[in-house]
Formats: sequence, C-alpha cells, structure tokens
Amino acid sequence: MKLIKNENYIVEIADMNENGEGIGKIDDFIVFVSGALSGERVLIKLIKIKKSFGYGKLLEIIKKSENRVEPDCNVFKRCGGCTLRHMSYLAQLKLKTKIVKDAIERIGGFSDIQVLDTIGMDNPYNYRNKAQFPVGISKDGISFGFYAPRSHSIVDVSNCAIQNNVNEKIISIIKEFMIKYNIRPYDEKSHRGVIRHIVTRIGVFTKEIMVCVVIKGKKLPNADYLVKKLCQLSNISTIVLNHNNEKTNVILGDKISILYGKGFIKDYIGELKFEISPLSFFQINPIQTKILYQTALDFAEFKGDETVIDAYCGIGTISLFIAKKVKTVIGVEVISAAVDDAVRNAEINGISNVRFITGKAEEVIPDLYQNEGVFADALFLDPPRKGCDVRLINMIREVLPPKIVYVSCNPSTLARDLKMLGECYEIDKVQPVDMFCMTGHVETVVLLTRRKIQQN
Ligand SMILES: C[S@@+](CC[C@H](N)C(=O)[O-])C[C@H]1O[C@@H](n2cnc3c(N)ncnc32)[C@H](O)[C@@H]1O
Repeated sequence: MKLIKNENYIVEIADMNENGEGIGKIDDFIVFVSGALSGERVLIKLIKIKKSFGYGKLLEIIKKSENRVEPDCNVFKRCGGCTLRHMSYLAQLKLKTKIVKDAIERIGGFSDIQVLDTIGMDNPYNYRNKAQFPVGISKDGISFGFYAPRSHSIVDVSNCAIQNNVNEKIISIIKEFMIKYNIRPYDEKSHRGVIRHIVTRIGVFTKEIMVCVVIKGKKLPNADYLVKKLCQLSNISTIVLNHNNEKTNVILGDKISILYGKGFIKDYIGELKFEISPLSFFQINPIQTKILYQTALDFAEFKGDETVIDAYCGIGTISLFIAKKVKTVIGVEVISAAVDDAVRNAEINGISNVRFITGKAEEVIPDLYQNEGVFADALFLDPPRKGCDVRLINMIREVLPPKIVYVSCNPSTLARDLKMLGECYEIDKVQPVDMFCMTGHVETVVLLTRRKIQQN
C-alpha cells in the first residue's frame, strides 16, 4: 500500500516503547503513536513518514485498553515530562519488565532469560527530589514550567504530581518577587533578561530545601527581599544563585554564589549521608535508589574479603553502599568534580576502605590490572545511557572477573553489552527497578557470573 502523509489510517497498537509511544503497523510499515496503548485500535493521522517507520497523531481511540486511566494532570498532553500518565501504574510496571525482556531477547539474542517483575513504588507520586523550571514569558505574563516535548516552549506548570508540592509555593514567591521588582525572565533568542531557571532540590528524608535561582549576570537585584520571603517557608536550608552567562541550553553554569545557608542540603540513601550542592549529581529518587543498590548488593553475595571495582561510580554512592560488606572498593569516574564529591562523601560517612580514581573506566581499569596487579573479585558497572565502551568490554573478556553486577538505565545498550559478555558469562538474574514512575524509563540490575571452563 502506498502511504500518504496527512492521510488517516486505522492502526492496531501491538506494543509500546520506552518513550511511552504505542507501536503499530500499517501493513508492514511501523508507526509510533504517542498517547496510544498496547492492545488499542486507534485512528491516526500519519504526520511523518521516514524510510522504515513513521509517526501518527492520535485522533480517536476506537478500542480502548483496560490499562487506560484518565491522566490526573491537566497538562499531560502538552508537557514533555511524564509519558505514561494515561496508563495504570500496575500496567506501567508490567510494560517496563517487558521492555527489558524484549531488549535482552531482540538485541542481546538471548532466550529463556527470566526477568523478574519490576519493583515499583508504593506511592509513585512526589518522588522527585529535583525540579528544574525554565522561566519565560507567555501571553499571561511570567511563566514557570516544563518544556513541551522536543521544544523549548514552556508549558506553565507550578504543581506537578511527581515533584514535591512545596515547589508550587516556591514558584509563587519567585513570581511575586519578579513582578514586584520588574525582573525579566531570560530570553533565549535575544540573550537578554535575568532569571533563566529555578532549580530546587529537596531532601526526601531530611526535608531540607535548596532553592537555586539560575541567572544571567553577576547579581540578582533585591535578592534580600526574595531570601526573606523564601525563608518564611519551613525547611528552607539554603538559597543560591547560579550564574550562567552562556548562550546555551545547558541549565547550570559553573559559578555559584550563596545567598543564604551553607550552599548544600543533606539527604540519605539508606544509612549513608550525602551533602548535595547545586552542581553535584544525586539520584533523583532516593527511595528507589536504595532498593536498586540493595538489589545490586544482594546479587553480589559478598563474603567480606573481596576487592571490588565500581566503574562509572559518579559521586561514589554504590562504592560507599557496598564498602562495609567487602575488603576494598575502587571507584572509577571520568568527572573530577564527582570524584571530589565521592572522596568527601566517604569522609562524611567515615568510610576508609574506598579509593576513587578520576579517568575513563576503559583506560583506568586496564591500568589497574596491568600496572597495579589489582584483580577484582567483582566488577560493578553503572554506565551512562550509551552503555560501556567496547574497550572496557573487551578487557573484561580477557581478565574475566568472577562476577559482574551491571546497573543500567538503558535496556537497549544493556542488551548490546550483555551480548558481548554472553560468551564468557551466564546471565543469572535480571531485576528491573522503577526509579522514574510515570515515564517509560527503567533501571535494571543484572548479575553475570563467569562461565565454568569446559574440560574436555
Ligand atoms: C549512570 S551514572 C552512575 C553514577 C553512580 N554509579 C550512581 O549510582 O549515582 C554514570 C556515570 O558514569 C560517568 N562516566 C561516563 N563515561 C565514563 C567513562 N568513560 N569512564 C568513567 N566514568 C564515566 C558519568 O560521569 C556518570 O557519573
């Protein structure tokens, strides 16, 4: 059938992807339909045709999935944040398990791998400890919100159900301040104006709040008034300015000035305490992070005398979480500021059997083996979305640490890396964990154990 752009078609939605899009076919041609769920029959307008797939705009649901729920957010369709608010939470968890299983089978080439049910949250709302609100001008005046999908137009949102409710009050105070003193939002096109973003970080366990006002320029006029007003809220621990003078869509610049408090908040993952400054990376869902790390630790079944390498260690959270259960941990991380945080976090928690090295995992770890005679009893891998560097995988296949615990935020690259490791390792356990409720993203912990060498 010759497909025609902007024509309407009826499509059966057979599957869904990580972006929360329904996947269906017109004959053999794959179409992605935002807003459609597996099992639905929908009427779409074919809005984009690429070589082997296209995109459809959902016009009508002809047959509705039993997993469909009324989105409990009035900007869900316009906001680029959540992608699964129209799906029951139980169905979201099942979808995530399926996404992981499909990737391991389709990309990894494995069969008969048991993927455990995704561990969800008791309450999948208000879980984020970090919010980043772009500030702009709309026809109704100053707007704070989130970007629309694939765009920089701001959808006005002040209370978002996956964020902490206090953000609404913070935004209302900042809005009132901007109007009172005529402080202009930053405009990306003209590179004029002052306030670019509001970033908040809130300790889930400590309740401490940091407000970070990202500005172009050195000073925020009448900042004293803003500090006074924000401090009327309970639990405000620190208020900082972040200076970003670049023409960029990167939110934070690298300079901070403190208006109030110490410039950081504290929070916990399990029993570990962390100091979180505006520029430091910290997992956005500490409740599920603890479950993720505990799963990784349980999978490793340490006896206490192990040397462990924690590759892609960030601010050292996994290294510190497992440190008490092993002899020594060596964390490897490419960003030196994160390594500084890791060293500080070890100090704060009184942990001394960890060591952190700045550098690329694929360069530092071979060096540890060749020049320091290190042999890891277990290797933890927690790479960014693009997965592990092939040089690291090749090196692992040579030195063969007995156990690998792979923590991944991207099922596709996880499956690709598992395929490369599969010759030498058995996949023993696969456990997805829902860190990003209401979105299609999923974290997965995989235990790999070295295959026994066949004796002839
Ligand atoms: C998904 S984060 C994991 C951080 C940490 N394990 C945690 O749980 O918070 C991936 C980390 O890998 C780091 N990274 C990226 N490429 C790297 C490389 N080639 N070698 C070492 N670290 C790298 C990033 O800076 C980031 O901190």
